[in-house]
Amino acid sequence: MSFLLKRLSQKNSWNKVFKQRLTEPFHLNIIAVFVFIFGSFRKKVAYDLVIRPQHAFGLLNAADQAKLRGFNDVTVLEFGVANGAGLMNLIAVADKVTKETGVNIHIYGFDTGEGMPEPLDYRDHPEYYNTGDFPMNKALLEEKIKGKATIIYGSIKEKIDEFKSTISEKAPIGFVAIDVDYYSSTKDVLDLFKAKATTFLPLTYVYMDDIFMPHHNEKCGELLAVSEFNQAQSMRQLSYHRFFENQRIFKNANWVKQLYYFHVLDHPYRSELKRDRKTYVLDNPYLKFEGNKKQFD
Ligand SMILES: C[S@@+](CC[C@H](N)C(=O)[O-])C[C@H]1O[C@@H](n2cnc3c(N)ncnc32)[C@H](O)[C@@H]1O
Repeated sequence: MSFLLKRLSQKNSWNKVFKQRLTEPFHLNIIAVFVFIFGSFRKKVAYDLVIRPQHAFGLLNAADQAKLRGFNDVTVLEFGVANGAGLMNLIAVADKVTKETGVNIHIYGFDTGEGMPEPLDYRDHPEYYNTGDFPMNKALLEEKIKGKATIIYGSIKEKIDEFKSTISEKAPIGFVAIDVDYYSSTKDVLDLFKAKATTFLPLTYVYMDDIFMPHHNEKCGELLAVSEFNQAQSMRQLSYHRFFENQRIFKNANWVKQLYYFHVLDHPYRSELKRDRKTYVLDNPYLKFEGNKKQFD
């Protein structure tokens, strides 16, 4: 109880519970109580009952997609680790997703290990972030994540090329959380998305953390890096799926607007012109023909 009160006293949690969750339809919140007590992991993900629902959605859907395509393994990345709350949450969620799907999840985090680097200019939002912000308790964190996740230390710009060359096509990237705050750092992260097509699932989920504050906009920060990337890459697109919100039971949560789809247009899966499957036939309620399921009397 005291844990709950402590969490609620934090402004962010207060906003999440009162402005985002309790403004949703009353009956859905009542159903959610039952799902919380009796529901399966999948149902809890559907009702946003897992802490950091963006991770739960991203990992579960990446694992499902991987399984569908015949992979036993999937890779998940967090850019910007700081004190590791996000990374440790990924580890906890991955454990549940593996139990649910049987898919193994390989987790990597990226961080300087020493907090934020120098900002470039106004595009890095120096009004929000400062050099040295978000340091890490390295030894403590390493002890906790040992054998469960790997942190790659140093500047992302210097580490990303080597990492790209090590990704196994047997464990394609299925989910990426980008939480590096700056435009310049996000630009370095997005270099990853130019890697060989088969190192990704044909559709990879990307969580953009730093796009929701009042000063965030398309000419600065993460949003600027994304729009530059999309302009420069004709076969790779990071886009907000305009119907994603419609597919969620709870629509007011910020994360629903922070979840992007990374489309790998040059992925072999998207280019195979012949598919070995039954031909789709559309019903027509106005016509009588064999196999038509929707016929009017
Ligand atoms: C807001 S914190 C991450 C918080 C974390 N994701 C969480 O959920 O607790 C941002 C982190 O990004 C890291 N970072 C920013 N730019 C970076 C860069 N260019 N290279 C490596 N790390 C970077 C910083 O060191 C900082 O720890």
